[in-house]
Amino acid sequence: MKWLALSALIAPSQAALRFGCSTLTIQRLDPLVEPGALPSAHLHQIVGGDAFNASMSGDIGEQGTCTTCTFSEDFSNYWTAVMFFKHPNGTYKRVPIMQNTALPNGINGGMTVYYTQQDFNSNGNVKITSFPPGFRMVVGNPTTTSLSGSRANVGLKFVCLENKGTRFPELSDFPTKPCRGGIMTVHHFPACWDGKNADSPDHQSHMYNTGKEAFQNAGPCPASHPVRMPQVAYETLWDTTQFNSMWPSGGANPFTLSYTDSKGYGTHADYLFGWKGDSLQRAMDHSCMFNACENGRPLKSQNVAAMNRCTIKKIVNEDTGDNWIKAMPGQTAAS
Ligand SMILES: *[C@@H]1O[C@H](CO)[C@@H](O)[C@H](O)[C@H]1NC(C)=O
Ligand SMILES: *[C@@H]1O[C@H](CO)[C@@H](O)[C@H](O)[C@H]1NC(C)=O
Repeated sequence: MKWLALSALIAPSQAALRFGCSTLTIQRLDPLVEPGALPSAHLHQIVGGDAFNASMSGDIGEQGTCTTCTFSEDFSNYWTAVMFFKHPNGTYKRVPIMQNTALPNGINGGMTVYYTQQDFNSNGNVKITSFPPGFRMVVGNPTTTSLSGSRANVGLKFVCLENKGTRFPELSDFPTKPCRGGIMTVHHFPACWDGKNADSPDHQSHMYNTGKEAFQNAGPCPASHPVRMPQVAYETLWDTTQFNSMWPSGGANPFTLSYTDSKGYGTHADYLFGWKGDSLQRAMDHSCMFNACENGRPLKSQNVAAMNRCTIKKIVNEDTGDNWIKAMPGQTAAS
């Protein structure tokens, strides 16, 4: 997202949210694609409300008791695959997550979440409609195995960080050389809704993407998906620096996503809406921007200590890569 670099230049007519969420848990759970599975096929980092579980239904905004996000009425869950380093000796270690730039200090890992508008600096004169209770969606697909397939997902990117503020160039696959400041993964969701379904069998076809790369504004929503929703996006910053010296000179990218993907073509993300009551709609109808939306203007917010305090128990007990492990959770060991 480019908001950070240009936010000083623009005067939005409608709200834009950018906020941090600390890590809720790192586990093999996926109530969206594999409801009920204990464990799910691959490892995720999950942020947001503490109602998160192997299966979830109903109005999540009424189910949480705390959230790891800045806005204390946001019990949504946001998750992505996690990143591992594969050592030349065949073992794996999970890459730690670091907090983003321009967020309050002390956030434990997590990700940065955006809810923005159709256009870079306005709502495009289209009302932004909040998601209905129970809404969920997925963007990207772990079964994508080609660069052309990855490029077709315009909102899914990798950035080789020089420092935490680096935003370009955006890549459709993993960087092929060590990145001095780490690697950022970016996930933009589609923002045009069919107006009827809170979900669909593939968790994608009830939504349609008109977003484009870089600084361009999104195109209009098509007749099949006429309702403009907030543009949801995640940024996750992976602190790869401790592994850079172990990258064999001239060797292939040693980082892999948790479903075994060292190209990054299958990068994907999951969203489960859980804002309490009409809080997200009130924010979208407001003209606040970023942290100016906090402290009841119009959204209730909390400090970093309260965000970090919210966690859930481990349901799936396994080493998720804090130590060197022979195989990533759910994956077969390297031969
Ligand atoms: C998660 O789901 C399990 C099984 O359905 C249930 O026993 C448990 O109480 C749930 N945990 C939370 C925190 O809701
Ligand atoms: C692989 O390398 C790591 C990092 O040097 C080391 O800690 C670990 O013991 C090694 N594992 C094996 C099986 O050689």
